[in-house]
Amino acid sequence: MGVNYGDTAKYINFFFYNRTLYLFDTFEGYPQGDIEFERSASGAPDETVKFEFEEDIWRHRYDSGITEPDLLRKMYYPGKCVVKKGVFPESLLGLEDCFAFVHIDCNFSKPIQDALKYFYPRLAPGGYICVHDYYHPIFSRIQAVVREYAERNGAALVPVPSYEGVVITKISAGR
Ligand SMILES: C[S@@+](CC[C@H](N)C(=O)[O-])C[C@H]1O[C@@H](n2cnc3c(N)ncnc32)[C@H](O)[C@@H]1O
Repeated sequence: MGVNYGDTAKYINFFFYNRTLYLFDTFEGYPQGDIEFERSASGAPDETVKFEFEEDIWRHRYDSGITEPDLLRKMYYPGKCVVKKGVFPESLLGLEDCFAFVHIDCNFSKPIQDALKYFYPRLAPGGYICVHDYYHPIFSRIQAVVREYAERNGAALVPVPSYEGVVITKISAGR
């Protein structure tokens, strides 16, 4: 969830070569509503948020613009990939599956919250969810929603001591 140009997704596809890989993204940049929501929720000074959202460097690095054929060409096993283009969670369109590994990298707390709400109940026992931006220096709501979700649902949460990661796992009965 949060594929952008597929630079991480292609490795997930490589290592989980025999699994279906769902690729969720608007592929057209960030939903405007999420940007505005995070801007007001962060409480950070306007100039800092402006830099994070609007500087050319940031826009060029992170805005999506890849076509589906180009994205699939980057994948090691394109036949195992299902592109889910659109704003999450609307883009789910009733999808039901069980997930072994979920990689959430979408920069904002609202889609992260929506993604946890959808994926965690469908995570296989012993499966993992990796959430980016947990230690985001500006968007502090991200850490709050992840911690709150994990506590409320009894999920095991392992902060990864890097700039931004956290891993959530569902521990199966008897493990
Ligand atoms: C930081 S980029 C992902 C980078 C990618 N994981 C990589 O390693 O190259 C974040 C992506 O999240 C997507 N995104 C953010 N909110 C979204 C939402 N609500 N629905 C769909 N895509 C979203 C953006 O379009 C953007 O491509």
